[in-house]
Amino acid sequence: MSGEAVAIAAERRWAIVVGFIIAAIIAIMVFTGLHWAAMPPSRVETIDPRTLHVSGEFVEANLGTSVGKDGKVVVRLVAQQYSFHPQCLLVPAGVPVTFRGTSTDVIHGFNVVGSNANSMLVPGFVATFTTTFRKPGDYAMPCHEYCGTGHEGMWAHVKVVSVDEFRARAGRGERLSCVSR
Ligand code: CUA
Repeated sequence: MSGEAVAIAAERRWAIVVGFIIAAIIAIMVFTGLHWAAMPPSRVETIDPRTLHVSGEFVEANLGTSVGKDGKVVVRLVAQQYSFHPQCLLVPAGVPVTFRGTSTDVIHGFNVVGSNANSMLVPGFVATFTTTFRKPGDYAMPCHEYCGTGHEGMWAHVKVVSVDEFRARAGRGERLSCVSR
């Protein structure tokens, strides 16, 4: 074989290998995109995003933190381009907090810095997860799914307070948040 023929054969082998790698990466992207992005990571509970604000669990008066009769702490929040409601979540430290969230428009997501709180918020689905915040403090809560031109400005805050302080504020059974009025 001439030098040129060897070079062509080697390049062809490399082209085939690289072609396989690209095809595999595209296949993985398509699979994960269709299979995982179409639903929240927790479990499947559906809701009509067109009537969110009118009736049901996610009306404005029901957003924020509540303590159920069983003592469970539940935070309800809604995401929309480009903000979270409420803008500041008030939660107790050291006890389990259950988040229930959804979106009115496109796919959003959030994580709470310094914790394992992390979820997508997908229109049409309710995302649910439970976590425990260890230390009191103020934590940033950015949107972590690209949702449009205002994405990088989409933030909320989580204020973690001691259980005693939280109980004192939760006593009246209202929806709590730390949004300044
Ligand atoms: Cu909402 Cu990015």
